[in-house]
Amino acid sequence: RPLRKYADPLPLLPVAVPEKSTYPDSDYYEITMRQAPWRFHRDLNTTAAWGYWASHPSDPGRPMGLGYLGPILVTHRDRPVIVRYRNHLPTTHLLRRSIDVTLWRNLPGVPPDPPGGRPMDLPRDVNVWNVVHLHGGWNPPQSDGNPDAWFTPHGLHGSLYGTLSGAAPNEAIYAYGNRQRATMLWYHDHAMDLTRLNNYLGLSGVYLIRDPAEDALRLPRGRFEVPLIIQDRTFNADGSLFYPTKGISAYHPIWVPEFFGDTPVVNGKAYPFLAVEPRRYRLRVLNGSNSRFYRFWFSDGRVRLPFWLIGISGGLRAYPLRSTTILLAPSERADVIVDFGGLPRGASVTLMNDAVVPYPGGGGGPAIPEIMRFQVTEPLSGRDDTTPPHALVLPPFESLHPTPGIPSRERVLTETTDPHDNPVHMKINGWYFFEPVDDFIKAGSTEIWEYVNTTGDAHPMHVHLVQFQIHNRQKFRAGDYAKDYERWVAAGRTAGGKPQLSRYLVGPPVPPEPYEQGWRDSFIAYPEMVNRIIATFTPAPPVPNISGTDTKYPADYIHHCHILEHEDNDMMRPWQLVRVPV
Ligand code: C2O
Ligand code: CU
Repeated sequence: RPLRKYADPLPLLPVAVPEKSTYPDSDYYEITMRQAPWRFHRDLNTTAAWGYWASHPSDPGRPMGLGYLGPILVTHRDRPVIVRYRNHLPTTHLLRRSIDVTLWRNLPGVPPDPPGGRPMDLPRDVNVWNVVHLHGGWNPPQSDGNPDAWFTPHGLHGSLYGTLSGAAPNEAIYAYGNRQRATMLWYHDHAMDLTRLNNYLGLSGVYLIRDPAEDALRLPRGRFEVPLIIQDRTFNADGSLFYPTKGISAYHPIWVPEFFGDTPVVNGKAYPFLAVEPRRYRLRVLNGSNSRFYRFWFSDGRVRLPFWLIGISGGLRAYPLRSTTILLAPSERADVIVDFGGLPRGASVTLMNDAVVPYPGGGGGPAIPEIMRFQVTEPLSGRDDTTPPHALVLPPFESLHPTPGIPSRERVLTETTDPHDNPVHMKINGWYFFEPVDDFIKAGSTEIWEYVNTTGDAHPMHVHLVQFQIHNRQKFRAGDYAKDYERWVAAGRTAGGKPQLSRYLVGPPVPPEPYEQGWRDSFIAYPEMVNRIIATFTPAPPVPNISGTDTKYPADYIHHCHILEHEDNDMMRPWQLVRVPV
């Protein structure tokens, strides 16, 4: 029975208020992970979900949260934020039947993969562990939320935890310096092998950084600026969240290579509506889905409504771009101005999606053509004195250039399959995640990274620590290269035997699309392409006057595919930032 569309109002994510603390010149928050009741649609029963909770501003003892997702944390550039993350989740995972222990442990009767198991030393009865990553943040490794830095409700910790002193066993305290451009970041769960499930249950929230450059633009603010976390979900008949419990390969009896839900959920409600005034709105859109790509457009029932793209994941673009569609891969954000001003009272505008499912090939899943609706039913409460988007003068953009003498770094994306051609592992450079680091990046250098995608899928690749630029993309003979590369890996990576990527390239490199222009922390690595990015790896500065916040060397970071099913199954690798002797 399909759910009624546009029956529930869009939940507005609550804004957390900083608490009293002794941390100097910083905003301090206590954010608690909890299981709580939540209703995804008026025709569905209330169910249990996971979320981040802040403290109620007028009654610090009372938790403040929706029940699903988390509160918005707002700060200004250079204003530090200290967060004490607490794990008050139950000790039994809500999706325990979707947990696949073969991702880190050998099971009798299951072909071992990885062969020796993964060095996750967890007691067998523990099935809930969590860690929070501020996606897009420029932070020291001990505040980055590395997947190995997990902690359980009981107070067990993963092998790589660093936290500011003063944390109880089931807590971590992170310091964010916010020395970066205004943008919308995303805090979300990043626990080793559970990221797809913990996010699916709701551990996801918005983090806004403001700065003077943005403040001067006169953009829509207050209730005319609306963050939208867009996800796809599937529901059981009882209103609870459905996630598969059966895999497709004998190697991983439960893990699935992608998840595509049949229902759009925005800020926690299925097919919501938002009553709007006839004026400009600033929509801060996050694709918080596990696997799904969207190509959004706005329909007034007859035509595609043009809108203005003013920013992407890493902040404002160099110029406003008038557009009618926006492609958003998992983890990407779009900063969009939509003008409902010319529309008659009572008009409705539907947020549509026409991405081929899944984008752009492989797998399968139901299409979700409609997402939510804006209803122009509110009277104009005052003149719209925001800057017309075409007149916005946005901050200039400078292209990066690689540090001379540093070669491009290859990241070869491969997929291993079982005898029935079902995916078993997604890998980077043929390594499992837990194998030793082999990427040492000098602090301060500017490097080109080449994502050599030999697979048939587009992978949204994300790098921690940095905001980067798309350099270019280039076709290559993917099939030939993959065969030669895998042969070289299987032969033990002999010196001199490595296939030379330059011999497989086809045609000239192509620059990024106009809508891709700008700073970002993830990008689409297209299939059968060499996808190049460029970034400067500057260590995150310490938070002034708070000890333990300087970058600890060697600094452990990661990069990975942001299809959560892929990152949970090894399309993720560590890298280290190393100090340059001066
Ligand atoms: Cu949004 Cu490493 O994650
Ligand atoms: Cu992927």
